[in-house]
Amino acid sequence: MTSTWDPGTWRAFPAAQQPRWQDAGELEQVEKELGTLPPLVFAGEARELRERLAAVSRGEAFLLQAGDCAESFDSFRADPIRDKLRVILQMAVVLTYSSGVPAVKVGRIAGQFAKPRSNPTETIDGVELPSFLGHMVNDLPFSAPDRRPDPARLLRVYHQSSSTLNLLRAFTKGGFADLTRVQAWNQEFVASSPEGQRYANLAAEIDRALRFMVAAGISSKHPEIHEAEFFTSHEALILQYEEALTRRDSLTGDWYDCSAHLLWIGERTRQLNGAHLEFLRGVKNPLGCKIGPSTTPEEAVGICDALDPDREPGRLVLISRMGADKVAERLPPLLRAVRDSGHPVVWACDPMHGNTFTSETGHKTRHFDAILAEVAAYFDAHRSVGTWPGGIHVELTGDDVTECLGGGDNVDHADLGKRYETMCDPRLNARQSLDLAFRTAELLQQS
Ligand code: PEP
Ligand code: CO
Repeated sequence: MTSTWDPGTWRAFPAAQQPRWQDAGELEQVEKELGTLPPLVFAGEARELRERLAAVSRGEAFLLQAGDCAESFDSFRADPIRDKLRVILQMAVVLTYSSGVPAVKVGRIAGQFAKPRSNPTETIDGVELPSFLGHMVNDLPFSAPDRRPDPARLLRVYHQSSSTLNLLRAFTKGGFADLTRVQAWNQEFVASSPEGQRYANLAAEIDRALRFMVAAGISSKHPEIHEAEFFTSHEALILQYEEALTRRDSLTGDWYDCSAHLLWIGERTRQLNGAHLEFLRGVKNPLGCKIGPSTTPEEAVGICDALDPDREPGRLVLISRMGADKVAERLPPLLRAVRDSGHPVVWACDPMHGNTFTSETGHKTRHFDAILAEVAAYFDAHRSVGTWPGGIHVELTGDDVTECLGGGDNVDHADLGKRYETMCDPRLNARQSLDLAFRTAELLQQS
């Protein structure tokens, strides 16, 4: 890696998982236009998230990163955004209470439009077309015009992200996120859940804690009760988009990728000599990097050295996505190596991407039990090494979909076809998400 950096130095490095844009001139035009548009987030906000994550790295907070696998141009309406935020806020209350520390809330939202794929092309009946790479690049239907990478989509991503952020800012500051209201939704869930009794005690304890705070004079007039702090994130996959939104902060002179507060690198683009690491090492935002079961301790430390050379708390989140059956063996050596290297990273568990399989009905799915098992094994691994199991990273929606199996409502194989709406990977529905939060809370209380 070169020591000089500017937002375009990544172009001299091999970039995995990039679309084959067909018209260089068209792409350049779009990059130019994006470069003139206002930032979506501000450097000061990214610094604030960094402070929150520094607290996570010290074991003084818990990270909840959650949202769609891929956002869609087609289902862009206020209600699904509101419902997604609502379930994340509900989960955060449960996790805050059970961990005894603040939950740092980060959405996979307002920019999560590009997907890495296992194969660059897809072949059906002898016809080969580019794979669907998310609405930032092309469209899902299997036809040549739909699958053609279209640079104009980058602009549409920007504008949809901008409206989404506007709505999120309004919801989180305008009373929707009031803690007493969020707790009332949780009580509703507990009362109507087949497994409700299991969580009734915890929900009642949270109720009592809230009543105590009100009695002690901390009421809805306090921003801590009435408002929520919410950050955005997405996978920084399409580097032309990220470069065009990278700006120099006028206060500090540092570069920030102003497309989101946190950007992460996926399991398929984390090559040490690759363009994605080269680009992200130069921006000051907090960063994430996914690490799968093939990651060696040397690679994990190499990623830390590249992205966090100054060993700054809150700079880097390592998101482990091993698969439930591999965590116990693969994670502890990584935890030890990173700890011994002195990088104060935040650890997070993505229990989704290592547990995907194709059901008998042909749907890509995940079982709630495997997701929970990965979280449990992740907590065990941290307990055995003596590190803080910083947080969880999940794919979910506030809608009543049937994409993942199991959970309190016991979605089974026959149900999968009923409401299978994801653009890419299967998401937990609202009830499964809350189930996971309460189960994670139980695990946190044991640890
Ligand atoms: C994702 O988070 O949607 C994803 C593709 O994950 P990973 O890079 O871990 O495979
Ligand atoms: Co996914």
